[in-house]
Amino acid sequence: MDAKNIQCEISDGVAVVTVNRPESLNALNSAVLAELECTLYGIEQDSTVKAVVLTGAGEKAFVAGADIKEMAAMTSFEGHRFAQKGQRLILFIEKMSKPVIAAVNGYALGGGLELALACDVIYASENAKFGFPEVTLGIIPGFGGTQNLTRLIGPNRAKELVFSGRIIPAAKGLDWGIANEVVPLSELKEKALGLAREMAKNGAIAVGYAKNAIVNGLNMTKEDGFRYESSLFGVLFATEDQKEGMGAFVEKRKAKFQGK
Ligand code: CAA
Repeated sequence: MDAKNIQCEISDGVAVVTVNRPESLNALNSAVLAELECTLYGIEQDSTVKAVVLTGAGEKAFVAGADIKEMAAMTSFEGHRFAQKGQRLILFIEKMSKPVIAAVNGYALGGGLELALACDVIYASENAKFGFPEVTLGIIPGFGGTQNLTRLIGPNRAKELVFSGRIIPAAKGLDWGIANEVVPLSELKEKALGLAREMAKNGAIAVGYAKNAIVNGLNMTKEDGFRYESSLFGVLFATEDQKEGMGAFVEKRKAKFQGK
């Protein structure tokens, strides 16, 4: 597929994926959703990539939401299908075996905030803004936002944000636990890349299993989550990475993981 709205650069085991539609503040239309899904699918299959940074083009927006101009003419059926398409992308990111870091470089609204919430870590620039303005448009968040925001920050704060349609600054997003960290815009990309590279150095299977345990564990009882964790823990003892990681510790050298 010709991904004209998505840029993807891979180096040192890290893929930087940029939503590149700055004239519309990187709004997610059907083409962008399909291209993003296709790009991330390729990254998931690429064993040289160990971590992903997701960001938006320009200095104003990460993603300012789903494309309102495209949605304006949708029928009820098309709206439902559009939400399902977005949700499929969100769930794909959550199920990817590689960590995905959102570098939120401006507005993360509606579908843009939903995209950031699908990521494993959110680093934001000082000019970033978070919000769900959907109710000001007569709709509700449709790419998993009502579910994911509530799980992340709890129902009362989620309701305050979603029912008001209010847009909050990065500092409040940090205070509420939406952003992991807030840094000057000029430092954002390097900060996200630094974390991605740090993650990429570790045993890739272990990092993927840790993500799997945390993401899937959120939907389990604590006991099932414990059982799931110990199963994954056991499986890792069948990997070469476990032999290498523990062997390197015993031999007092740095581990060289192969992702096998
Ligand atoms: N969809 C389509 N186009 C958008 C867009 C969006 N979500 N957000 C911005 N744009 C376009 C604008 O229409 C404008 O295009 P034109 O120059 O052709 O008019 C261009 O991007 C620049 O935007 P503004 O001139 O509006 O920039 P601003 O600095 O004055 O305002 C903003 C910035 C506050 C983010 C404002 O653009 C805005 O409110 N955008 C919409 C935000 C929103 O409501 N997002 C939620 C969408 S619904 C959703 O996402 C549903 C879901 O859960 C799946």
